[in-house]
Amino acid sequence: MHISKWLFFVVLNLFISSLTLVLAGRDFYKILGVSKSASLHEIKKAYRKLAKELHPDKNKDDPDASVKFQDLGAAYEVLSDEEKRKKYDRCGEDCLQKDGMMDSGFDPFASFFGDFGFHFGGNEQQNETPRGANIVMDVWVTLEDLYSGTFVEITRNKPVIKQTKGTRKCNCRQEMITRNLGPGRFQMMQQTVCDECPNVKLVNEERVLEMEVELGMIDGQETRFIAEGEPHLDGDPGDLILKVKTQPHSVFERKGDDLYTNITITLQDALVGFTLELPHLDGHMVSITRDKVTWPGARIRKKGEGMPNFEDNNLHGTLYITFDVEFPKQEFSEQEKEEIKRLLNQSSNNKVYNGLRGY
Ligand SMILES: *[C@@H]1O[C@H](CO)[C@@H](O)[C@H](O)[C@H]1NC(C)=O
Ligand SMILES: *[C@@H]1O[C@H](CO)[C@@H](O)[C@H](O)[C@H]1NC(C)=O
Repeated sequence: MHISKWLFFVVLNLFISSLTLVLAGRDFYKILGVSKSASLHEIKKAYRKLAKELHPDKNKDDPDASVKFQDLGAAYEVLSDEEKRKKYDRCGEDCLQKDGMMDSGFDPFASFFGDFGFHFGGNEQQNETPRGANIVMDVWVTLEDLYSGTFVEITRNKPVIKQTKGTRKCNCRQEMITRNLGPGRFQMMQQTVCDECPNVKLVNEERVLEMEVELGMIDGQETRFIAEGEPHLDGDPGDLILKVKTQPHSVFERKGDDLYTNITITLQDALVGFTLELPHLDGHMVSITRDKVTWPGARIRKKGEGMPNFEDNNLHGTLYITFDVEFPKQEFSEQEKEEIKRLLNQSSNNKVYNGLRGY
């Protein structure tokens, strides 16, 4: 008796929880693995990362792969749109569906974010179909962008092939034909044979693409947007290839994952020591403290304050700081000179020019 009562409640509970689940729709934040307060940047990042992982081509053994991928696309469609996100936060997916805001046809397969590093099957017969040319473009980014990561929006005016009235000759090729000229006499000749295709015209369409500037990307690294290159009337469009280029920076120089900078300190600081704060690329402060004498050209190392490594963002290179010393310009009185001599107590006898061999 007790058992069955307990069972009844369990079943009732299950029923209620599945009911609320259906009513509330999908939890888009959970699908993307981001918090409710996530920024647009975090949402884009999460989407791009998960799209790579959950792509059905990569998960052929998982029967739910395409559903998961669709959920991901829907989550991104809603949370990346300010208006839809507000509505979703207020009253869930049902509200959006009621207002017809869920069928804008967001296609997670579209090459909106560039290629995910693998190709969607069927690329082998490439030499069969003619292709339009690839377009290669440089995208100039700052060192700050490469340190913290960002998304760059690229508006492309893309010529797109549209069907129009009438037909045109297409797929033209040379064929041998044989003509019967009478009993026992034939003529063979070459002839151009074409198919009839629907007529097309090129229409300019504006496309907004987003390229992720990933942490620690290196100069020349490519992001490929499949089929966003030049169109081809009888074949597939080429690809758009965006190459990362780093703008020179006024403070830091990058070599691999390491950063280099120069700091000029006063002679006084060089002699008695100092503490200074150097603003880093994301605004955090790097604190440098010395109590020893600092020579001109001295270099100190700050481990972990270099660039993030592209493969493993948790790893950072080293920041190298080279010091230059600014000497005072003022004149010293005889008395001050005596005092400096007394303080420094450096012997003046050693005047042999040593050809800088000591360096
Ligand atoms: C630091 O100084 C050296 C020598 O003058 C120069 O070659 C280098 O480019 C400087 N680095 C930066 C980041 O300004
Ligand atoms: C000054 O230098 C001399 C020789 O280098 C040394 O013998 C002397 O102890 C030093 N004096 C002080 C006050 O350090």
